[in-house]
Amino acid sequence: MDKAPKFPYDFIDKVIVSEEEIRDRVEVLGRQIAADYHDSRNLLLLGLLRGSVVFITDLMRHIHLPMTMDFMSVSSYSGSESSGFVRIDSDHKTNIQGWDVILVDDIIDTGYTVHTVSKLLLDRKPRSLKVCALLDKEERHKVDIKIDYYGFKIPDYFVVGYGLDIDEKGRNLPYIASVDLKKYKK
Ligand code: IMP
Ligand code: MG
Repeated sequence: MDKAPKFPYDFIDKVIVSEEEIRDRVEVLGRQIAADYHDSRNLLLLGLLRGSVVFITDLMRHIHLPMTMDFMSVSSYSGSESSGFVRIDSDHKTNIQGWDVILVDDIIDTGYTVHTVSKLLLDRKPRSLKVCALLDKEERHKVDIKIDYYGFKIPDYFVVGYGLDIDEKGRNLPYIASVDLKKYKK
């Protein structure tokens, strides 16, 4: 029998964060959130579709508190480049007035997405608003944002896996891997 290829996509360069590292870190984040919000009765994890889905579903299972989740869909990317313009494609359903909201995203790059969405959410009068992201490409930030909970700081790679994609490919990988953009064909 042929040996299975190392990666199921030929544009993968290398693993940046392993499955085990993600598992351990997500558990720590969940416990930290649970401790910080132990007296909250209106906790909402608000995920940005579609990249945050894998992260948020793992994260919430480590938050042993009453809570709910909701999603919004926003876009600013085409391939591996941010356009800087953030469009709301579909809004959340929950009326967040008076809620403790944690905005959850897969990765912070320029920061435009979280910056724009946070401003919009604050207009809707939550009791509190914090930001949680699995990954942070700190050196790429173009706006000043506060990330209250993050999983890993990573260098300036374009990455896929654990929910993150390049043109919808790569979300199913259980680890975070960098993309070799020279090998990537649309
Ligand atoms: P920002 O608005 O530039 O901070 O970009 C954040 C959004 O861009 C994230 O929600 C991701 O959907 C996407 N993004 C940024 N960098 C990457 C990456 O390396 N891989 C996959 N998606 C990314
Ligand atoms: Mg996204």
